[in-house]
Amino acid sequence: MTTPRPETVAKLTPVLTKRWLSPDAWRIGTYEQLDGYAALRKALKAHPDDLIQLIKDSGLRGRGGAGFPTGLKWGFIPQGDGKPHYLVVNADEGEPGTCKDLPLMTHDPHALVEGVIIASYAIRASRAYIYIRGEAVHAARRLRNAVQEAYDKGYLGRNILRSGYDLELVVHSGAGAYICGEETALLDSLEGFRGQPRLRPPFPATHGLYASPTVVNNVGTIASVPPIVLGGADWWKSMGTEKSSGPMIYSLSGRIVNPGQYECSMGVTLRELLELAGGMQPGHNLRFWTPGGSSTPLLAAEHLDVPLDFEGVAAAGSILGTTATQIFSDQDCPVYATYRWLEFYHHESCGKCTPCREGNYWMVRVYRRILAGQGTHEDLDTLLDTCDNILGRSFCGLGDGATSSVTSSLKYFKQDYLDYIEGRTAPKLSEKTLVGAH
Ligand SMILES: Cc1cc2nc3c(=O)[nH]c(=O)nc-3n(C[C@H](O)[C@H](O)[C@H](O)COP(=O)(O)O)c2cc1C
Ligand code: SF4
Repeated sequence: MTTPRPETVAKLTPVLTKRWLSPDAWRIGTYEQLDGYAALRKALKAHPDDLIQLIKDSGLRGRGGAGFPTGLKWGFIPQGDGKPHYLVVNADEGEPGTCKDLPLMTHDPHALVEGVIIASYAIRASRAYIYIRGEAVHAARRLRNAVQEAYDKGYLGRNILRSGYDLELVVHSGAGAYICGEETALLDSLEGFRGQPRLRPPFPATHGLYASPTVVNNVGTIASVPPIVLGGADWWKSMGTEKSSGPMIYSLSGRIVNPGQYECSMGVTLRELLELAGGMQPGHNLRFWTPGGSSTPLLAAEHLDVPLDFEGVAAAGSILGTTATQIFSDQDCPVYATYRWLEFYHHESCGKCTPCREGNYWMVRVYRRILAGQGTHEDLDTLLDTCDNILGRSFCGLGDGATSSVTSSLKYFKQDYLDYIEGRTAPKLSEKTLVGAH
């Protein structure tokens, strides 16, 4: 196990995670003792437009995967339109490897509740929803408890802190489908329909929940709002890089000594994160990794010093995504890992569009053939051709994301595929998996 050097430890910037280890951090009393609801008191004295400007000035970008500027998104909500406005928090957290929103809601649910109230006030919403995935029973319980505590203390409901502002907050558990994390599928699911993406435009900013102006933001995005209100835009921008401001929770999993959540200024490198996490497990050498979940192209050992911010990862040919850093070693097979992810995308494809529904179905079959030792060289062309027909031609990002590990593993690890095809690697799957594969 490596001991991190002091300059690496200094990269840790606990802002969203700062209360997680406090005893009973999820209770309102503890939260209030640790700055809790101070930002709300400050925000309710400000004009909503000034809050939107503050978030714009901070440079906060969405933590749900795409990194869209949050203040800009809030500014799209038409004002004075006479329609109800909604804030919907995306707490679906389904991206494989991602584990930042559920711990936040479990350990520090009031951080999200306070962020919801401030964000709703800024966009002039009087009703907000937190859509949490159905399997996350413990986090949902903590969240519901926090919402009740906030109502009891007058932070939610009518005339919040005697400001004249009213807000109702509903925690809604989904049924557990990856596609319901896609914001428009989420809105359909919240309305009681089957969760499938909507055609855009119109965008949720004008036609969202119940065809009304709606902001959909990730848990981490909204939980970043109270610290920005308290600390100011310049303080927030003092962390991170020029275009990727602030801290970020990096979820580290895989062949490392101490998996977990590490909150660091954006732009930290995997080399530094590995040092913080105690290094690779004994006997394992880094071979490949995902910078932001399985929907982001794989990176290799040569990318250890890539700055993990939106621009740095894009320049290296991948996507920062949800900063779910899954780490694989020389004892892991990139072909098999990609196959397992594809099984996931195939299973989770909502079936609305042909490229994703059919493409993932067929790619799973090609992978099974290769891993059962019956692949051909043409199979590799078939995979790339199928990806070409999915990427940019699918109805939503699920299809695009499914191709990431296929194309990137073929780019960096083609030899691993050839070793199965040419018989140098023993088959990993039995022929029984090939029923219906040809
Ligand atoms: C298939 C799919 C799944 C997604 N799952 C999530 C999710 O679980 N949580 C999330 O915040 N965003 C998810 N997103 C991104 C959302 O559509 C949306 O961009 C995000 O909630 C916006 O919030 P932000 O601006 O705060 O990042 C997903 C997107 C796709 C295409
Ligand atoms: S890309 Fe996949 S998940 Fe998205 S609409 Fe098409 S079939 Fe559904």
